[in-house]
Amino acid sequence: MGILPVLIGDWYTRNHTALRADLDSGKDLGMPDGVLINGKGPYRYNTTLVPDGLPFETIKVDPGKTYRFRVHNVGTSTSLNFRIQGHNLLLVETEGYYTVQQNYTSFDIHVGQSSSFLVTMDQNATSDYYIVASARFVNESIWQKVTGVGILHYSNSKGPATGPLPEAPSDIYNQWSAMNQPKAIRQNTSASGARPNPQGSYHYGSINVTDTYILRSLPPSTIDGKLRATLNGISFVNPATPIRLADLNKVKGSYKLDFPSAPLNRTFHRDTSIINATYKGFIEIILQNNDTRMQSFHMNGYSFFIVGMDWGIWSENSRGSYNKWDAISRSTVEVYPGGWTAVLASLDNAGVWNLRVENLDRWYLGQETYMRIINPEENGETEMAPPSNVLYCGALASKQQDRSHKSGVSIIHGNPNLFFTLLMALCAVFIFS
Ligand SMILES: *[C@@H]1O[C@H](CO)[C@@H](O)[C@H](O)[C@H]1NC(C)=O
Ligand SMILES: *[C@@H]1O[C@H](CO)[C@@H](O)[C@H](O)[C@H]1NC(C)=O
Ligand SMILES: *[C@@H]1O[C@H](CO)[C@@H](O)[C@H](O)[C@H]1NC(C)=O
Ligand SMILES: *[C@@H]1O[C@H](CO)[C@@H](O)[C@H](O)[C@H]1NC(C)=O
Ligand SMILES: *[C@@H]1O[C@H](CO)[C@@H](O)[C@H](O)[C@H]1NC(C)=O
Ligand SMILES: *[C@@H]1O[C@H](CO)[C@@H](O)[C@H](O)[C@H]1NC(C)=O
Ligand SMILES: *[C@@H]1O[C@H](CO)[C@@H](O)[C@H](O)[C@H]1NC(C)=O
Ligand SMILES: *[C@@H]1O[C@H](CO)[C@@H](O)[C@H](O)[C@H]1NC(C)=O
Ligand SMILES: *[C@@H]1O[C@H](CO)[C@@H](O)[C@H](O)[C@H]1NC(C)=O
Ligand SMILES: *[C@@H]1O[C@H](CO)[C@@H](O)[C@H](O)[C@H]1NC(C)=O
Repeated sequence: MGILPVLIGDWYTRNHTALRADLDSGKDLGMPDGVLINGKGPYRYNTTLVPDGLPFETIKVDPGKTYRFRVHNVGTSTSLNFRIQGHNLLLVETEGYYTVQQNYTSFDIHVGQSSSFLVTMDQNATSDYYIVASARFVNESIWQKVTGVGILHYSNSKGPATGPLPEAPSDIYNQWSAMNQPKAIRQNTSASGARPNPQGSYHYGSINVTDTYILRSLPPSTIDGKLRATLNGISFVNPATPIRLADLNKVKGSYKLDFPSAPLNRTFHRDTSIINATYKGFIEIILQNNDTRMQSFHMNGYSFFIVGMDWGIWSENSRGSYNKWDAISRSTVEVYPGGWTAVLASLDNAGVWNLRVENLDRWYLGQETYMRIINPEENGETEMAPPSNVLYCGALASKQQDRSHKSGVSIIHGNPNLFFTLLMALCAVFIFS
């Protein structure tokens, strides 16, 4: 079976400095300039909407075969609906875990998420077929202008794709029903292969939760004269000295371990406040989206069980609706505006791990924190040591100067080949920058 990677994402022609400047001045990113499929623009399905001469993606297939489409939303901030004209998408995997297999005519993929679909080439190839990635949970009639369109080409195809694109989900004004799709994704308990944490949390439904964190996001608000995004009223500020490097070198005051476990009734502020998480604990995190936009959240170093998702404000009673048996485990989950998503994670991976919104605009404006997960008995022995080329900065900047001098000398005397490789790498940087 062929595996076909499909990278879909919104695209802004302005560069990251210009986009950041917009956010800094309190503006919204606005509608992207396009949606790309594998880095290419839309096929000219409509001569009014799509200019002539754009390169577009063509995926070539043979009739009768089944292919695995691994689709990733690599965009900046837009949720996308993925569909292939005339073909079913059999969902089999989300971010490395097998799902119960179910056919969809279209599937929502949020920023940072990945899913695999088995697609059988069972059509008669009277023409090529459209592959579509369209903006979701925005004003879809306006954003239709920036739809990503590629081509599925059978080796026996009799002509180009024509006519209108396959229809987008018809629930634009009834987004309540849209949540049924993610809620239906469950673990395939009989598939072989990767299992979420075979050491124990596979039976996650019977493990006692050690800590609960409710993280609420609100629409951006003005803090210290600038628009900022927050979690529990805190807009994250990156520390001058990297967190774990500060620990290893006993630098004090680089961050605070006081991230609140629930939204507090206090003035919003900016801070380097992180979660004091319990090593080997079993954490419950409720992502409460009180913003007006669809968001997706990602946790580094872990995948988590998506046990609940609903509209309204989460309460203790919401636990009654949790899926305690076959919830899917994944690394990135959507949180609907005006709704919540609850996840469970077994904290067996020591380190300091980022927990953030994947929508780059909100992330840039401060909607993130870290979880510090340290084994109190072994002082970081099971953690990877910092790499030999670690960059020191902040309170440790003086170590960097010592090191760059020393390592330069050791490269020349120690390993001439390595020195040559580095030289070539440097040249490459100059050529391509
Ligand atoms: C980004 O674009 C601006 C113009 O909008 C330009 O002045 C700047 O040099 C660009 N920056 C980078 C890093 O390409
Ligand atoms: C192309 O798009 C425009 C704008 O949405 C629409 O009015 C027109 O009917 C479309 N043309 C075709 C041939 O579908
Ligand atoms: C999914 O759709 C395909 C046809 O495209 C069909 O062969 C298959 O049986 C369906 N699978 C399920 C689980 O519905
Ligand atoms: C689970 O995965 C296996 C393939 O590994 C598949 O045959 C089976 O149909 C799947 N079960 C469900 C309920 O989708
Ligand atoms: C091919 O399939 C399409 C739609 O499934 C149908 O309208 C058309 O008549 C078929 N053509 C042939 C030659 O079978
Ligand atoms: C989307 O935009 C159109 C055109 O501006 C407007 O008529 C429509 O009311 C908007 N829809 C929603 C749901 O805001
Ligand atoms: C979970 O907690 C309950 C009491 O709250 C206790 O009876 C039970 O043994 C605990 N289970 C585990 C697996 O620790
Ligand atoms: C939050 O604080 C304000 C004043 O600081 C107070 O009026 C309000 O009642 C408080 N709300 C809650 C839910 O405690
Ligand atoms: C972090 O939590 C541990 C218990 O898990 C506690 O011993 C320690 O004092 C806490 N640190 C801070 C700064 O609150
Ligand atoms: C935000 O929370 C308030 C108060 O709980 C609620 O009235 C409002 O509908 C919520 N808005 C969204 C978009 O979640």
